[in-house]
Amino acid sequence: MKILVTGGTGYIGSHVAVKLIEEGHEVIIVDNLANSKITVLDSIKKITGKSPIFYQENLTNFGTIEKIFKDHQFDLVIHFAGLKSVSESVEKPLMYYQQNLSGTINLLRCMEEFNVKKIIFSSSATVYGDSEVAKRTETMPTGQNIANPYGKTKYMIEEILKDICTSDPKFSAIALRYFNPIGNHSSGLLGEDPNGIPNNLMPYIMKVASGELEELSIYGSDYDTSDGTCRRDFIHVVDLANGHLAAFKALETPGFKAYNLGTGTPTSVLEMVETFEKISGRPLPHKFAPRRPGDLAEIWADPSKVKQELGWQTHLTVEDAMKDTLTFLRNHQ
Ligand code: UD1
Repeated sequence: MKILVTGGTGYIGSHVAVKLIEEGHEVIIVDNLANSKITVLDSIKKITGKSPIFYQENLTNFGTIEKIFKDHQFDLVIHFAGLKSVSESVEKPLMYYQQNLSGTINLLRCMEEFNVKKIIFSSSATVYGDSEVAKRTETMPTGQNIANPYGKTKYMIEEILKDICTSDPKFSAIALRYFNPIGNHSSGLLGEDPNGIPNNLMPYIMKVASGELEELSIYGSDYDTSDGTCRRDFIHVVDLANGHLAAFKALETPGFKAYNLGTGTPTSVLEMVETFEKISGRPLPHKFAPRRPGDLAEIWADPSKVKQELGWQTHLTVEDAMKDTLTFLRNHQ
């Protein structure tokens, strides 16, 4: 298939691009490089032996995106491009609504104009909002009490996709709700390397491990959990990438469908630190700090629907992700 991958040089997009190329698909990447580096294309080539066609463009520029659709007849769009910092979205909500919503609407308008009927959207567990039940299933309500504009854009885009599926009986849209992706390709050539001080746990652990940052603050030690720290469903990004290929099956029938991509098993923040120390063989400087506003105590996936309907499940562990992270770290020091 000829597949447009928006955000294809980003952390998750690049891992999916590798899988697609390995499976023999033709990949065209559009990315504005706002949070990724052009050198990712060299890494994709090193791993797969092939260079994807690349456009450095922003989805908010309708005319340039339309031109790309004129040049290529796509069979499928996989849409990752978007801003993803929770804290930045609280500070700059308009920027998030503009980039994530306008960008997606432009993309969907081009799909309509050029008769492209299939999309896989990179959604998030954040669409579930707060809930009494930590284990999230796809039948739970979405959109309630989402704590930040970033999360709301994910929810709103899912709603837009549902409306398009209602209006066009030939349209297929799959929302993949990611839990907490970590790790990287085992070659250590691709990974998550955010600019500046990271918000997310694994990139922060990496910067402490490399000596770039002094110590990790564990936000909250008094949660009602097994060890008092938050618990999350950390999923290896290579398993996550495979989930996108599994989702092709769901595209065969039109309509909107959502699937959780997670392991089904939670790990606490403190367990993450301890595992990293065990795998690296070195202590990871850390301290306990006050809770981070907006954090949920616990959230993990019920992955039974995706296993049953698409035959997908995770195979890699948090330990595998930590090992691969260390390889990436060594390659980038
Ligand atoms: C957040 C978003 C999620 C998004 C994901 C990846 C919400 C509620 N969650 O997930 O939608 O897909 O980022 O971008 O919007 N932690 C520390 N110290 C740190 C960093 C994190 O203790 O320096 C803790 C956090 O308090 C949390 C856990 O580690 O308990 C995971 O945090 P993080 O990696 O930021 O992911 P989420 O907040 O779960």
